[in-house]
Amino acid sequence: MATASEPHILCTDLVRIFTADGVEVQALQGLNLRVDAGEMVAVVGASGSGKSTLLTILSGLDTATAGVARVAGHDLLTMGSRERVAYRRRTVGFVWQQTSRNLLPYLTAAENIALAMNVAGGRRGAARAARIDDLLGLLEVGDARDRRPGELSGGQQQRVAIAVALANEPLVLLADEPTGELDESTSAAVLEAMRGVNLELGVTTLIVTHDPGVSGHVRRTVQIRDGRTSTEVLRSTRVDEHGQEQHIAEEFAVLDRVGRLQLPHDFVQALELRDRVRLALEPDHVGVWPGDEGRADVPHSATPQAGASDTPRRRPRHAAGTSDAEPAAGTSDADSRPENAAAAATPDTEPAAGTSDADSGPEEER
Ligand SMILES: Nc1ncnc2c1ncn2[C@@H]1O[C@H](COP(=O)(O)OP(=O)(O)OP(=O)(O)O)[C@@H](O)[C@H]1O
Ligand SMILES: [Mg+2]
Repeated sequence: MATASEPHILCTDLVRIFTADGVEVQALQGLNLRVDAGEMVAVVGASGSGKSTLLTILSGLDTATAGVARVAGHDLLTMGSRERVAYRRRTVGFVWQQTSRNLLPYLTAAENIALAMNVAGGRRGAARAARIDDLLGLLEVGDARDRRPGELSGGQQQRVAIAVALANEPLVLLADEPTGELDESTSAAVLEAMRGVNLELGVTTLIVTHDPGVSGHVRRTVQIRDGRTSTEVLRSTRVDEHGQEQHIAEEFAVLDRVGRLQLPHDFVQALELRDRVRLALEPDHVGVWPGDEGRADVPHSATPQAGASDTPRRRPRHAAGTSDAEPAAGTSDADSRPENAAAAATPDTEPAAGTSDADSGPEEER
C-alpha cells in the first residue's frame, strides 16, 4: 500500500513500445511524472506525443514495456489480473473524450452512476441515492438526474461522466481530453467543475489534453514531447503592493534523475544548436553555448577539459562577466535564470553530458 510520503502517481523512466507490422513505435520514451496526493495536474502535448498511451497505462488498461508506474500504492507493471480489476473499480475513475465511452445511452444520469456503484459493490439504498444526488449537485447537474445522455448538452454529459467516475470514491481521477468535443466556454466550465471536485473531495486529478488553455485551470501543467516530460508551468497567486491578486505562471524545464533536460525548440533554433553544445557551470546557473569549433564568441574556458569528458570545466571566476567571456545571445544571465529555466539547472546536479542523450554531450577538446 502507499506510504504517507509516496506520491499518488509516480512514473519513472516509463517506456511503451508498440509494434505494428514489424514497425516499432516508441510512444513513451522514458517519461517521468510525479503527482502528489490531492494535486490536480494537466499533461499537455501535441497529437501523437504519448498522452493517451500514458493514461491508458495509468488506468490499468495497458501495460508499459519498461520503467516504473505506481498509482496509490499499486505497481501497474507487476499487478495481477485480480488486483487490476479491483484497481480499476475502486482506486481510479476515468473520463474519456467521447461521451459515448463514459455513459450508457439508455440509462438516465442517476442510473449511470448507480451502475458504476453496482459494479464495485458500493453503497445501497438510501445511502446510494444520497450519494448520487450529492455527486450530481457537486457537478451542478442535479436537474439532469432523470434524463438520458441524448437529452443533455455535451457539457452536461461530461459533468455526469465525472460524477460516474467519482461514484466509487476513487483516490485518483484520470481524464483523457475530457473537453475535446466541447466549445471553448463549455470546456472552461467543465474544467472549473473538475477543479471544484478536486478541491471539495481532495481526489488526485490528472487531465491529459492537447488544449494549452487547460493551464489556466490548474496549478501545474506538464508538457510532454516525444514521449517524455519536457517542461512544467507552475501557476501561483500573490498579492501585489496595491492589494491586487496577481496570477503568475512560471515555466520550468524538467530535469530527470540523471540530469537530462530538453531545451525548448525556439532556444535551439535561435542559437542554431545541434549535435553538441558547450556547458559551463556558474555559481548559480549553467550556461549553454553552440558547440561549433573555433567560434570567436565561445568562451574557451567553457570547453570541457581533455580527459574529463563528462565533467565540464568550471569557468574561472575572473572570466565571468568580462567581455571575452560574454555568452552568446540568448544565454545571458538574465535569460538563464531559474524562472526562465529552460537553460538553467541547479549547480549541484551532475551536469554530465548534459542536454539529452549521452552521445550528444560535449566531446573532449582536441
Ligand atoms: N495500439 C497502438 N499500436 C501502435 N501504435 C500506437 C498504438 N497506440 C498509440 N500508438 C502510437 O503511439 C504514439 C502516441 O500515441 P498517443 O495516442 O498516446 O498520442 P496522443 O498524445 O494521445 O495523441 P492525440 O492528441 O492525437 O490523442 C503515436 O505515434 C501513435 O501512433
Ligand atoms: Mg490521445
